Amino acid sequence: MADDKVLQAIDEPPVIDSEICVTDEMVEVYIMGKPYTVPASLTIMKAMEYAGYKLVRGVGCREGFCGACGTVFRRRGDYKLYSGLACQTLVEEGMYLTQIPSFPAEKAVYDIRELEPTANTILSYYPELARCVSCNSCTKVCPQEIDVMDYVNEALRGDIERAAHTSFDCIMCGLCAVRCHAEMPQYLIGILARRLYAAHIAARAQDLESRVQQILDGEFDKELADIKELSVEELKDLYRKRDIEPT
Ligand code: SF4
Ligand code: SF4
Ligand code: FES
Repeated sequence: MADDKVLQAIDEPPVIDSEICVTDEMVEVYIMGKPYTVPASLTIMKAMEYAGYKLVRGVGCREGFCGACGTVFRRRGDYKLYSGLACQTLVEEGMYLTQIPSFPAEKAVYDIRELEPTANTILSYYPELARCVSCNSCTKVCPQEIDVMDYVNEALRGDIERAAHTSFDCIMCGLCAVRCHAEMPQYLIGILARRLYAAHIAARAQDLESRVQQILDGEFDKELADIKELSVEELKDLYRKRDIEPT
């Protein structure tokens, strides 16, 4: 199987980002147990493609935003287990890596409008929240440098607003859950806190509500109908000439 992938890599030149400068330096890495020699300048994701893997799961934005590419790895001579995003982490000599294309978790289903923004609400969907032992392992692995333990404990205290703000940059990669002694899906707790905050605590945007009402009243129907008739070039021209807010 590995030979097939290597041959495929030779037949089909790898897709390499133009921004990535491929140097002559090569490193040996172990991808899911198999050794490959790949350029040292590549990210784990690009190195896997260079080695012949076709990524179907575990890849999305390629820019560190979607959280699809959680990867665990060890370094030669180092007992520690490391983790990172495959699209953002460079390969290293002697790296042993495995990509984890999805993290299992039971996602709660709810109508956010019917919930109270309280700790009890979160606990009713994720009772494991109360099992946090404050080990901080989740914070140490977060590729977004979020203080994960903090937002977990803010949610547990019922400080939904702080939990929403602290977890705001979460990209749902799931790496924190892998290291959690309490086996909780922190990222699902974070998104529930943000939804509770947005639905029940954050101030309503009056300008937005009045603009939505204008749309519902049909005030822009003619303008939208005219735009739909434009060609692509006319649309581009309209976009270039748009009013831009001063910076
Ligand atoms: S909080 Fe967890 S799921 Fe969110 S980005 Fe950090 S490690 Fe990934
Ligand atoms: S890894 Fe789990 S138990 Fe440890 S601090 Fe984070 S949420 Fe709590
Ligand atoms: S592919 Fe989206 S974060 Fe890596």
